Amino acid sequence: MQFPGSHILSVSQFERTDVEKIFDVADGMRPFAHRERMTKVLDGAILGNMFFEPSTRTRVSFGCAFNLLGGEVRETTDIKASSLTKGESLYDTGRVMSGYSDIIVMRHPQAGSVAEFSRASRVPVFNAGDGPNEHPSQALLDLYTIKKELVSRDQGIDGMHIAMVGDLKHGRTVHSLSQLISLYKKIRFTLISPKELRMPEDIVEELRKREHQVVETEDMEHGLEANDIVYLTRIQEERFATKLEADIYRGRFRLNQAIYTRYCRPNTVIMHPLPRDSRDDANELDNDLNQHPSLAIFRQTDNGVLVRMALFALTLDVTDQVEKSARAVNWYTERRF
Ligand code: CP
Repeated sequence: MQFPGSHILSVSQFERTDVEKIFDVADGMRPFAHRERMTKVLDGAILGNMFFEPSTRTRVSFGCAFNLLGGEVRETTDIKASSLTKGESLYDTGRVMSGYSDIIVMRHPQAGSVAEFSRASRVPVFNAGDGPNEHPSQALLDLYTIKKELVSRDQGIDGMHIAMVGDLKHGRTVHSLSQLISLYKKIRFTLISPKELRMPEDIVEELRKREHQVVETEDMEHGLEANDIVYLTRIQEERFATKLEADIYRGRFRLNQAIYTRYCRPNTVIMHPLPRDSRDDANELDNDLNQHPSLAIFRQTDNGVLVRMALFALTLDVTDQVEKSARAVNWYTERRF
């Protein structure tokens, strides 16, 4: 795909070569994300960071990624604080906001809303989650993490076995991730969910059409066996008509140290897009795995900054200029990586 000036709305836009290009640029962002160096390549540019649904990591990491490239961020964090509540259309909002920004990141509860908004926008728009539909930047950071985790085990993505667990019907991260992984070869997907919360049929059909193996099951213990990656998800309570309906499924599938040790192959990478639901009745990924070396959930969140920096740099066409304004940082950075 042509990155400069493009909207990023769906993983279906990408070929495998596009994904590899994003990952190469993300690798080059590491010294900037780790505060070893700084760049002002986007000095003067403004990101409109428009979140009409709750978010911690996507909103803040997109904002940080833009700041780390030298740009400024303007935010909307609540639909109630926006004129959408006065009946303004997404089209008008898109047209207006694109006059204030050089690029826009948007999250909204309705499937298709970000695409609708982008049709009015005069600047590139990134989909940061449109209801239960898609979450392309999360899929990219997840796959980037998978690649890094597997490389450290002398493996590649082609031929890997991945189990996806939980609310696969409403989970936009698994919708985008499974489709992105399908660009690779001979993947085995084990989809573990209650039968009412299965992966949408059109996605499963597409995976099979691309000659991947897909197993759908409600048997978590058996499904966990012989995987390279286990990717857990939360019951997406906000997509159910009532909390009571979500309660039916909450807590049904849980991974903890004992279950991991008993059923997972040693070194199976443990992933989750976060937030995990740590309340007692849910707890799909237990805190007793927090120190486990194969727990990659906080490597995923760190990698999100690299991947989002890469998306900005490619879309605003500055990848070749990042170095020109780069210099060492002059504050205390001893920490954490
Ligand atoms: N993974 C993810 O989208 O997290 P947030 O909802 O906190 O942005």
